[in-house]
Amino acid sequence: MITLENVTKIYSGTTRAVENLTLTVENGEIFGFLGPNGAGKTTTIKMIVGLLKPTEGTVKINDIDINLYPEKAKKMIGYVADEPLVMEKLRGIDYLKFIADVFEVPYELRTKRIGELLESFKLTSSITDPISTYSHGMRQKLTLIAALLHEPDVWILDEPIIGLDPESAYILKKLMRKHADSGKTVFFSTHVMEIAEKLCDRIGIINRGKLLYVGTLDELKKLKGSGSLEELFLELTGSNLPQLEALSREL
Ligand SMILES: Nc1ncnc2c1ncn2[C@@H]1O[C@H](COP(=O)(O)OP(=O)(O)OP(=O)(O)O)[C@@H](O)[C@H]1O
Ligand SMILES: [Mg+2]
Repeated sequence: MITLENVTKIYSGTTRAVENLTLTVENGEIFGFLGPNGAGKTTTIKMIVGLLKPTEGTVKINDIDINLYPEKAKKMIGYVADEPLVMEKLRGIDYLKFIADVFEVPYELRTKRIGELLESFKLTSSITDPISTYSHGMRQKLTLIAALLHEPDVWILDEPIIGLDPESAYILKKLMRKHADSGKTVFFSTHVMEIAEKLCDRIGIINRGKLLYVGTLDELKKLKGSGSLEELFLELTGSNLPQLEALSREL
């Protein structure tokens, strides 16, 4: 479970990236976080995982305040960032072993988990190569495997699917569903409306740092009238649909 209470983040004293955000993501659900570029998704995610301190407000992971008890809270989190890895000189397998050490994953369990996850994401044959030789998607898969090694309760994934090939994307979506169905929590951001529509139990829509909507897609449709999530999203975030249509006809 993830709880945000009145969370605000102001960068450099001026940019209000997230404003007074209150949100609970329950156990057993996949929660999709949507919003245009610069809306505040990554800032929110970095506060949830303890990489950024909120200017105001509290963030709790399974009722543990991440800023008061960072070690305890972080052990429950598996986080995949939106940026590629920086440990270029390491081999993939050494990176995974390093992460397993950090999270104190017992030797037998880590060997089993690494083997299974490498097979699932088809990365076994490249795992002894240096990360510097990996493609974007391969780096993403490695980061994903590293994040799941310690079997965290709460998965927090910033744009995890873009960049993955269709087979790996399919596997990841299945893993997310399985994790939520086992009573755990999955929170992810995406720009892909079809994925949000199919995968999420609930969605949150943020724009200019403010949470505009939280609930199921069905509730959103009842509230705003029928239409695809894409249309409802564009309407909620202030796009002028007739104008967009006219523009795209001209192009
Ligand atoms: N380190 C930073 N310093 C100052 N401002 C920042 C910083 N990081 C982000 N911002 C600003 O905060 C706002 C929210 O950015 P954020 O990265 O959270 O958006 P996002 O929703 O993740 O966007 P995207 O979909 O492009 O990934 C933007 O106005 C951005 O310019
Ligand atoms: Mg982002």
